[in-house]
Amino acid sequence: MILGIETSCDETAAGIVDTNGLLRANIVASQAEIHSEFGGIVPEVASRQHIRDIAAVVDTALQEAECGWDDIDVVAATNGPGLAGSLLVGVNFAKGAAAASGRPFITVNHLVGHVMAAFIDWRDGDSAGNPAARADEQHDGRANAKYMALIVSGGHTELVVMQGSLDAGFEFRLIGETRDDAAGEAFDKAARTLGLGYPGGPAIQAAAEGAENGHGIRLPRAWLGGASEFSFSGLKTAVIEVARAHGIDGSDPDACAEKRRTVAAIAHEFQASVVDVLVRKTINAAQDHHCDGIVLVGGVAANRPLRERLISDSPLPVLVPPISLCTDNGAMIAMAGRQKLIGGAESEFDADVIPSLRIG
Ligand code: KG4
Ligand code: ZN
Repeated sequence: MILGIETSCDETAAGIVDTNGLLRANIVASQAEIHSEFGGIVPEVASRQHIRDIAAVVDTALQEAECGWDDIDVVAATNGPGLAGSLLVGVNFAKGAAAASGRPFITVNHLVGHVMAAFIDWRDGDSAGNPAARADEQHDGRANAKYMALIVSGGHTELVVMQGSLDAGFEFRLIGETRDDAAGEAFDKAARTLGLGYPGGPAIQAAAEGAENGHGIRLPRAWLGGASEFSFSGLKTAVIEVARAHGIDGSDPDACAEKRRTVAAIAHEFQASVVDVLVRKTINAAQDHHCDGIVLVGGVAANRPLRERLISDSPLPVLVPPISLCTDNGAMIAMAGRQKLIGGAESEFDADVIPSLRIG
């Protein structure tokens, strides 16, 4: 069994998968409430909170998997990309735990973790009423195949071609990314402009559900001439301008009914703009690269309209893990650790954190 530890940002997480990729535990302590007071993540607050939570989170994961340290064969931890102080907590905890239990310690790239989440065997995992497309027999990762992975999170918006299989390991090639803001960052900034709080993704999605038909708000879509690249800063500016024109100043939108209606309309159109661009560009890239399927992962993959649109519009099979495996978690790090072991990874007790680590 592989224990995966994740502390790259504001979630303290530990997960366990077995060597077949079957999910055994997935425990996450979120700091979102602590950081919401500041309207975003405060790095020093994040690392100190990881220190407080990590031991209990790992302990709870072991309990959930009904196993002890003797059953863990390898300890994996995220060593980048992410906040240096936060990464250090997970990496050092994992090194200590591995040394004490006489097991190897390996590092995992957080972005490889996100894409490998699509191949975790989560069986009856809770998708909370959201459409989740599980790997089927043809696309369970065992046969050699090529996928277009869209990684959309608070810090990343990347299109990555992944080719290989769970047994031989996957190779990754970055083919496009954002030129400016990440998709999740755009959600968070738009939410702040609209006074919807942090994290912005779930807040925008909830507000958008209250939008009236034919609300008349229009925002741009950044097609960038069909390139496999993204840009969300123009959309962010457009949200600020349209909010200002309607007298929205970032204060509580529940203050009056008319304001609430306008905020819902802007949130709806903002979300539609992001979803339109992500869905069309991902499908085009998958077809251009002759992929067998599409993988949708990362915190923004929790967005219900994005999941629904990609699944309904894609002519190729789409793998979307349940939300608990889309947002930052330890199980995806364990799954990526498994992939690294197949490649013959050795213990890395001298490994450092790499805050700007890339994929492919
Ligand atoms: O992958 P993740 O948990 O952490 C990073 O590695 O960044 O992604 C966090 C991001 C945040 O920007 C958050 O606003 C966004 O994912 N997010 C969503 C939703 N849930 C979380 N964005 C859109 N819709 C959602 N339902
Ligand atoms: Zn992430």
